Amino acid sequence: MINLHEFEIKKMLRLAAEAREKAYAPYSGFRVGACLKTGSGAYYLGCNIENASFTPTNCAERTAMFKAVYEGERDFEAIAVISDGVDYVAPCGVCRQVLAEFCPQDMPVICADRDGNYVVHELREMLPMSFTKKDIDESK
Ligand code: THU
Repeated sequence: MINLHEFEIKKMLRLAAEAREKAYAPYSGFRVGACLKTGSGAYYLGCNIENASFTPTNCAERTAMFKAVYEGERDFEAIAVISDGVDYVAPCGVCRQVLAEFCPQDMPVICADRDGNYVVHELREMLPMSFTKKDIDESK
């Protein structure tokens, strides 16, 4: 796994908590913030953005990722996620798939509870046997 200093993790969680303040979650009331770090040391922040029609809801992780990709970023080092929940928040299945598109399989995913306690897992642990661009390329 990419090595992350405790100090760096704390910084990312602080930024993710700031992003959580921007959440638009009038339906669930469950605010989430994400901080995505690039290889060059830039941070992209995201919050969840809900919708009256529910399915268009965008998670914090994808907001951060899509902002970064739009800005031309393709190299990612870590992501931290924090919510209002008492338990560690883990990216949903859709977000794991989006992360797998752009991030290294051994990328650390930092999952925090609302108090900032956290666990770190590699992306590949969270989405084993993932379907990626490689599968399509190899079949050509
Ligand atoms: N949510 C996230 O933003 N990220 C996660 O990792 C889990 C779920 C959001 C989606 C929805 O707005 C709310 O949390 C409740 O599911």
